Amino acid sequence: MESIRLAFFDTKPYDRVWFDQLNTHYTIKYFEHKLNEDSVSLARGCRAVIPFVNDTLNAAVIDALCAEGVEMIAMRCAGYNNVDRHAAKNRIPVVRVPGYSPYAVAEFTAGLLLTLNRKIHKAYARTRDFNFSLNGLVGFDLHGRTVGVIGTGKIGQIFIRICKGFGMNVLAYDPYPLENADFSYVSLEELLQKSDIISLHCPLTEQTKHIINQDSIAQMKDGAILLNTSRGMLVESEALLEALKNGKLAGAGLDVYEEETEFFFEDRSDMVKRDTILSLLVSMPNVVLTSHQAFLTTEALHNIAKVTLENLDAFFQNGQVQNSIQ
Ligand code: NAI
Repeated sequence: MESIRLAFFDTKPYDRVWFDQLNTHYTIKYFEHKLNEDSVSLARGCRAVIPFVNDTLNAAVIDALCAEGVEMIAMRCAGYNNVDRHAAKNRIPVVRVPGYSPYAVAEFTAGLLLTLNRKIHKAYARTRDFNFSLNGLVGFDLHGRTVGVIGTGKIGQIFIRICKGFGMNVLAYDPYPLENADFSYVSLEELLQKSDIISLHCPLTEQTKHIINQDSIAQMKDGAILLNTSRGMLVESEALLEALKNGKLAGAGLDVYEEETEFFFEDRSDMVKRDTILSLLVSMPNVVLTSHQAFLTTEALHNIAKVTLENLDAFFQNGQVQNSIQ
């Protein structure tokens, strides 16, 4: 029997390693292109597509996938804000990898915080230039500071544990709080007002889009630090830029950006026509910005491949839709 063909979009060499090792019976077509209206025809002849975080799965793309006879959309990521669920409903199953390594993202968030606060990014650049001055590198002890965690799911809980290890006080906000949590839930307003550091670990939804905006920033402590390793659209970038420029915020650690799709995962160093806000953010000394990298550990890549292949096997071998987003 001919093996089932799969179309992977937005793939890089590091994506392929574990899929190639674990795959035993699928024919995989790896495309570097992102999935969108222009590239969707590449899925012709494939029974499933395997998109990533910055692929476009709007109604037009889903219509085209259905017209091509694609039977499943198997996201190889946890977030699915880029999928038009309404368009897919009752037409094509959409599955995902719900939690491939919450440690990867939580640990990276802690890394952004330490880098930003202790100015390790500056020190690294200085010492490479044989500049051993400490001027301008003063940080603060995390011990005793208050961190506000928005979203206490898998990643948020691990980040909280890490913060507790540093001796920080934790405030949390989540509309679905955990029972018996060993940290305090407060309203979003109280969290914004009392936190020295605010870290976003909620999904991007209608309710959370621009949860950090001009108004919420105005409620924050002067000199607060914002960390976002969740989704770019959670933060209104213009308001963030303004707050970083006028000193309301002391710094931002960002692994995601509102308009990242065109830039992230790619080498755009030759690009002249650049996104103005992104250009300004990366040029600021109090911003550490990375390219949606928080997930990138060996363990996470292994788990992504394993669970994606299990999701596909469940469907193609047993007719089951597991880890559905619908
Ligand atoms: P999860 O589903 O385990 O937890 C999300 C939490 O957010 C839940 O407790 C939920 O109740 C809460 N939440 C929902 N609406 C909220 C609201 N309006 N305000 C506050 N909290 C709200 O998800 P997990 O695995 O912890 O991931 C969190 C996010 O991290 C994902 O949605 C994804 O966007 C992002 N992510 C980023 C990665 C990266 O490489 N930078 C990799 C993986 C995930």
